[in-house]
Amino acid sequence: MSIRGAKITAVSHYLPERRLTNKDLAKIVDTSDTWIFERTGIRERRVAAKGQGTSDLGAEAAKLALAQRGLDPAELDLIIVATVTPDMFFPSSACLVQTKIGAGKAWGFDLSGACSGFIYALTTAAQFVATGAHDKVLVIGADVMTSIIDFQDRATCVLFGDGAGAVLIEPAEDGERGIIDFILRSDGAGGRYLYMPAGGSLNPASEETVRKRMHYVHQDGRSVFKFAVRGMADISQQILDKHGLKVSDLKLYIPHQANLRIIQAAVEKMELAKGQVAINIDRYANTTAATIPICLSEAVESKQVQRKDLILMASFGAGFTWGSLLLRWEI
Ligand code: UT7
Repeated sequence: MSIRGAKITAVSHYLPERRLTNKDLAKIVDTSDTWIFERTGIRERRVAAKGQGTSDLGAEAAKLALAQRGLDPAELDLIIVATVTPDMFFPSSACLVQTKIGAGKAWGFDLSGACSGFIYALTTAAQFVATGAHDKVLVIGADVMTSIIDFQDRATCVLFGDGAGAVLIEPAEDGERGIIDFILRSDGAGGRYLYMPAGGSLNPASEETVRKRMHYVHQDGRSVFKFAVRGMADISQQILDKHGLKVSDLKLYIPHQANLRIIQAAVEKMELAKGQVAINIDRYANTTAATIPICLSEAVESKQVQRKDLILMASFGAGFTWGSLLLRWEI
């Protein structure tokens, strides 16, 4: 088995067209643009059209990434879809994407890592490439969070949005680093702070689970907030220390976009400069597995990231799951 480097060779994203502003939400629940913006940094979010599932968003992002690379989908070996809102329990959204994009040779699976799903999936893909098992892996982070949020609960419905991002992972060439390292963590004891109680094997769908609004995101926001601030900053610092890197070595820090105040707290703790941090939560809210690849895609599009720049990604989410991933941009 060979061990080689893995790198991102294309990145793209797709957002549904429909915008839902804070003002729109104030017509549905007792909230205001001021409260939402001051507490979260969110101005608006996107909402998938009726009949548009996670695999549709993911397939659109994937097609754009493949076109960017000029790659025939038939050349893909593996598709990993990180999501907590698959189109359905089975078949996997990866299988649905596979057929939608015409990747006949690829196998695939869904990965449930909530807001850390993309970093988990990127790490997983990199292992398949590093061992030499595969040469072309598609990683998608996609969620239709509006399908599982309670539009009667003002504490959660203002936080989330829908979107997808996709990257291609291929072997690094000589002299390239690509994905350098990762630190991934989980703590199931945190599960009770952020979860969807019903719909799985524990509480299958019934008239009662629907009546009790158990098919929606339930969250103890304040607890998640505290864990997230500490978890994200610590795991980011750990990976920098491990590699003897200073914050100033980073071109871009891409934190999961759950709340601007969580990002700001991590940024202050790490002493990052404003221009080093990717932020788009104002436009898209928390798209769960999609926030990090969407940020990366926008940073590449705007040429904020150039070849050989060092990028640090970090996440914190339900599970609890959290992680950091360090990479050198090689496109
Ligand atoms: O990616 C997944 C990980 N999730 C997260 O990272 C979320 C982490 N948590 C948070 O982002 C924040 O805790 C929230 C944004 C969810 C809430 O902000 P907070 O500053 O922690 O507010 P709170 O929950 O302590 O609530 C403060 C007040 C409460 O009223 P009282 O009890 O003080 O009278 C809430 O009822 O704000 C009220 N409130 C709202 N008011 C207007 C809660 N939601 C809203 C709302 N509009 N949408």
